Amino acid sequence: MGRIRRLSDELINQIAAGEVVERPASVVKELAENAVDAGATTVRVLLSEGGLSAIAVIDDGHGMSREDAILSLERHATSKLRDKDGLFQIRTKGFRGEAIPSIASVSRFTMITSEADALVATKISIEGGGAPVVEDAPPPGGTRIDVVDLFFNVPARRKFLKRESTELTHCEEALTRLALAHPEVGFFLEHGGRLLISSPATPQRPRERIAALLGSEVEPHLLEIDERRLGVHVHGFIASPEFTLPTARGLYTFVNRRYVRDRGVNSAVQRSFQDSLPPGRQPVCAIFIDVDPESVDVNVHPQKLEVRFSDPRTTQDALAAAVSRALKAAPWRQDPSMPVGDALNAHYAQAVDRFLSRANELSGLPFDPQAPPSVMDQPMRASFGTARPGINEAPPPGYFSQLKYLGELGKRFWVCEGPGGSLVVLDPRAVRERIVLDSLRARFREGALREAPQTLFRATLTTPDAKAILAAQDRLAGWGVEVEAFGGETLALTRVPPELEATEVASWLPLVAAAPDDDAALSELAFAAGAAPLRAVTHDEIRKLLAQLDDADFSARARRAAVVVSDVPLLDLEAQADRG
Ligand SMILES: Nc1ncnc2c1ncn2[C@@H]1O[C@H](COP(=O)(O)OP(=O)(O)OP(=O)(O)O)[C@@H](O)[C@H]1O
Ligand SMILES: [Mg+2]
Repeated sequence: MGRIRRLSDELINQIAAGEVVERPASVVKELAENAVDAGATTVRVLLSEGGLSAIAVIDDGHGMSREDAILSLERHATSKLRDKDGLFQIRTKGFRGEAIPSIASVSRFTMITSEADALVATKISIEGGGAPVVEDAPPPGGTRIDVVDLFFNVPARRKFLKRESTELTHCEEALTRLALAHPEVGFFLEHGGRLLISSPATPQRPRERIAALLGSEVEPHLLEIDERRLGVHVHGFIASPEFTLPTARGLYTFVNRRYVRDRGVNSAVQRSFQDSLPPGRQPVCAIFIDVDPESVDVNVHPQKLEVRFSDPRTTQDALAAAVSRALKAAPWRQDPSMPVGDALNAHYAQAVDRFLSRANELSGLPFDPQAPPSVMDQPMRASFGTARPGINEAPPPGYFSQLKYLGELGKRFWVCEGPGGSLVVLDPRAVRERIVLDSLRARFREGALREAPQTLFRATLTTPDAKAILAAQDRLAGWGVEVEAFGGETLALTRVPPELEATEVASWLPLVAAAPDDDAALSELAFAAGAAPLRAVTHDEIRKLLAQLDDADFSARARRAAVVVSDVPLLDLEAQADRG
């Protein structure tokens, strides 16, 4: 007897599922794509436990007859492809006829479907690719597919799945990609009863679709692109360089309305943004490339996430031209003959001047116009959109190191150029307080405050609180403060954390001694350190302090919590400048 044997259909389907169905999000993608292909106007996705325990996809598309429904479970059975030539005429999402049999082979699968006028629908149930059970059911007005216990019969696969929240994010992302490409269809995603994506059809207003999916804060930053050349039509939206992300997650590109991750396409977009974006930042965009289906092979990737262009250069050139043109015509760019950076900075410099003189009038303090170095020769800096750290809130990673210190305002504030040319005002006392707090807390945790070596510091203090302070002697020592009785109401301080050596001891010692717990005591100490008179600091020292801030733990409560007093985006400054 020969060694070679034919695999069973069940096994063949499971092998195919290994490529097509990687995780719950793959099921969401395949079923929602089928719904769109079926002409649905609304697609509803219900998930439970991130799709790990159950996924339902419900559509109001054209549905299937009983005969088709049974056939759809067979491998290589499709209504979307007839012959070889058809492979280069694909306008649907699917064409291989393998998604449904693959999914049904690795889950408990139920499909209920009927055509428009049918009086009864077909219900088909399959457990892990076994024999289908066919029944009558009431018509659902389209198709409903339930996928329960994905990979229940492939434990090795199940092990590779991530936490519920991670799988949920992937599911949301899968639906977002499809929804961006199909504003004419309404998409809804519900998880454990909560509506996470709610995007009714907006066929005439694609901007709204982007806002609904990527966040309404991106909407005002969107620039439209539209470029046709040599049979390639590039259209869609890019966010202005004011609105960027640290990863390429916001870079959505589509070929003939199919989401793709194409290296050539991505790098063409990134190249066009290059001069406008700071290092390490990525653009946010939804770009649609429409080409003749004959000029692109969509059958090169198991999940159809990649395509092959017959002429990649033309596509990339059209793409680069579309993006560059939109960036050049952007409303914040007044003089098209100037390179982006200079145009921005000229306006920026004017706006900063106005801001500083206005702030100066308000505070009544003298202002030295020599102080800020020219911003004209500064390259553009990283941007994170309009996000800015709030009170006691961690800033986006790397926020402070990106700031370029310009000068001091009213001997009270630090003025910096922020990401994308925004005007950032910092409170140096809060800066110092935050850094000291972070360091004190770290040293306290290691017991290093109590163990700190003696310094030459000595101070005496006469206070009616002397007794109470002495009663807290041991706790104080744990926070790095050593006090001894010096007779009467006088105390001798023999040690304080070095950051507090220049402070007014009387202003904080009673408060620290009375602090209810360690956190409160350390926060009083840091507050006092922050309030110490400012000494002149060099640009270099400021740079180091800003870098330290990026490493600081912002979850600890500081009393003077607003490190960033103000962060005005360049666009707002320009709007003010234009108002006159
Ligand atoms: N929601 C639906 N409404 C109507 N018909 C559907 C639906 N889902 C699937 N079908 C029918 O079942 C067929 C098989 O679906 P399946 O997803 O397995 O393959 P496909 O979409 O043709 O190709 P691919 O495997 O590339 O997705 C489809 O060609 C379509 O005719
Ligand atoms: Mg399909």
